[in-house]
Amino acid sequence: MTHQQAPARSGNGAPPLAEPSFNLQAALDQIEQLMYDTVNSDVDVLRDASRHILSAGGKRIRPRLTVLSFAAAGGSDVSLAAPLAAAVELVHTASVVHDDINDHGVVRRGRPSVNSIWGRTFALLTGDYLFTKVYELMAPYGNLNVLMAEAASALVEGETLQAAAVKNNQFTREVYYRIIALKTAALFKAAAGLGARAAGASRSFEQALESFGYHIGLAFQIVDDVLDVTAGSEQLGKTSGIDVEQGRGFVVAHDHAEQAPSTDPLDALRARIMQGDAIHEAHEQANHFVEVAVSGLSVLPDSPAKQQLVELAWSVVDRSA
Ligand code: IPE
Ligand code: IPE
Ligand code: MG
Ligand code: MG
Repeated sequence: MTHQQAPARSGNGAPPLAEPSFNLQAALDQIEQLMYDTVNSDVDVLRDASRHILSAGGKRIRPRLTVLSFAAAGGSDVSLAAPLAAAVELVHTASVVHDDINDHGVVRRGRPSVNSIWGRTFALLTGDYLFTKVYELMAPYGNLNVLMAEAASALVEGETLQAAAVKNNQFTREVYYRIIALKTAALFKAAAGLGARAAGASRSFEQALESFGYHIGLAFQIVDDVLDVTAGSEQLGKTSGIDVEQGRGFVVAHDHAEQAPSTDPLDALRARIMQGDAIHEAHEQANHFVEVAVSGLSVLPDSPAKQQLVELAWSVVDRSA
C-alpha cells in the first residue's frame, strides 16, 4: 500500500519524488483482453456478435470504477481485480444488447446494434451468452458472487419496473428514482464494491466506495436521460430520443401529472422540453449526487487512484456523449 506511506525524500534537498500514478491504461488493456478471450464460443453468431459489441468500445466506466476502487482501497496486483472488472462490463454489455431489443435501438457504440445486424432472436441469445460468461469469470471469487448476483438482479428489476411504469402511465419522480437505483446505480455500486473487496479493504473503505459508485450511477443515468433529449444519435453513438419518445427518463418523470403521455412528434417534444426547466433540474440533481459521491471518499487516504476516482465522478456530469 505504497500510497499510505510518506513520499520518499532524497537526501540532497530535492523535492519529494512524485508517487507513480496508478497505471489505469495497463489495467484496462488487461480487462479488454480478458473479455475478448472469454467470448470464444465455437458457435459463430455468438462469438461474432459478442466481439462486435465489445470491439465497438464504449466508455468502460464500470471497469474503471472497479480497478480504481481496488487501487484506492490499497490493492496493488491489478490482476486480482481484472476478472471482476471484466465480469461487470460483461453484465453491462449484455444489458445493452437486450436493452436495444426492448427499445428498438438500431445504433450502439457507433455501430449498428446487434439486433439490427443479427435480428432479435440472435441478439437475445447473445445477451444471454454474455450473461453466462459472467459465471466463468466470477467462479474463483466465492462470496463476491453474491454481490454480483444482487446487482444483476437489480438491473433486471429496474428494466422491468421501467417497462411496467410506462405501460401503466405511472412514471412519477418517485418511481423514476427507484428505477434508476436498480437498473443503473446497483451495478455501479457493485463495480466499486467488488474492487474494494478484492483489495481486502476494511468495511468502512468498502462502504465509502460502494456509496461512491451508487451515487455516480444515479448521476450517470440522469445525464444519460438528458443526452437522450439534447444530443443526436451521431454524437451519442446510439439511437437518441427513444427514451423520451417511449415515455421514460428524467424529463418524463419531471412532467408526469397523471395525464395521458404526450403524443407530439419527437421534434416538437424536444423543443417543448428545451423550453422548460427539466434539463436544468436534471443537471442540478446529477451534480448533487456527484458531490455526495466525492465527499464520501474523504475516509480514504489520498492517492493517485483516489484522485482518478474524483475525476471519473466529475466526468459523469461533464460529458457530451
Ligand atoms: C449505457 O451505458 C446504459 C446506461 C446505463 C445509461 P454507457 O453509457 O456506459 O454505455 P457504453 O458502455 O459507454 O456504451
Ligand atoms: C439503461 O437505460 C438501461 C440499462 C441498464 C441497460 P437506457 O435505456 O437509458 O440506456 P441507453 O440510453 O439505451 O444506453
Ligand atoms: Mg435504451
Ligand atoms: Mg438512455
